[in-house]
Amino acid sequence: APQRIPVICVDGPTASGKGTLASEIADRLGYHLLDSGALYRLVGLAADKKGLSTDDQTLKEPAQARRLGELAAAMNVRFEGHQTYLDGQDVSDALRTESAGMAASRVSAIPQVRAALLQLQHGFRRLPGLVADGRDMGTVIFPGAPLKVFLTASAEQRAQRRYKQLISKGNAANIDSLLADLVARDLRDSSRTHAPLKPAEDALQLDNSALDVEQSVKQVLGWWQSQSAFP
Ligand code: DC
Repeated sequence: APQRIPVICVDGPTASGKGTLASEIADRLGYHLLDSGALYRLVGLAADKKGLSTDDQTLKEPAQARRLGELAAAMNVRFEGHQTYLDGQDVSDALRTESAGMAASRVSAIPQVRAALLQLQHGFRRLPGLVADGRDMGTVIFPGAPLKVFLTASAEQRAQRRYKQLISKGNAANIDSLLADLVARDLRDSSRTHAPLKPAEDALQLDNSALDVEQSVKQVLGWWQSQSAFP
């Protein structure tokens, strides 16, 4: 039964280092990886391509919410290594922009969109195991997962990391506006009605403000080993 396939959930706010941590853990354990944020980013991109608005005002219209739900359900996506394709087109870079992140945050508040992505996400649970990165992996998508990590870091730390990430890719970036954006996004993600960002009751919290990637990886692998020893 799929329920017996192990899942490690890594949830947390934007730029907390979830993505890096989750993919590192998946590599070391030889597990599959679900970057659930990419799915919401894809809905935003797909909407944009179809000329469907995702501004806050339009999203309040029930008909628009329904359209976006249908769009999410019909999305033609393919993941190939580090590449992501939407309708056969490589959108890997477009997905990572700040505006794609903001659009994802807006469309992710729509219950029809979340429902449309449920099955797709469950489909990532394959042998030998899965590391799932997002906001509601532990609370909604894989509530029975044996290990749930809730990753945090100060907003300033996270803005710094995002800044370095953008600069290293040759993008322009402004630390103050990055900080303002991520605080706004956290607020939106944690205050929405459906599947808000919050730790599951049985989540283990990890504040990585003062940790490097290797230290965070060691902590989570340590938790995983002790949980596997005492299931
Ligand atoms: O992790 P990320 O920055 O790629 O996520 C982009 C947005 O998608 C995030 O601001 C909120 C939404 N999201 C969500 O609602 N649920 C998830 N499991 C993952 C992301």
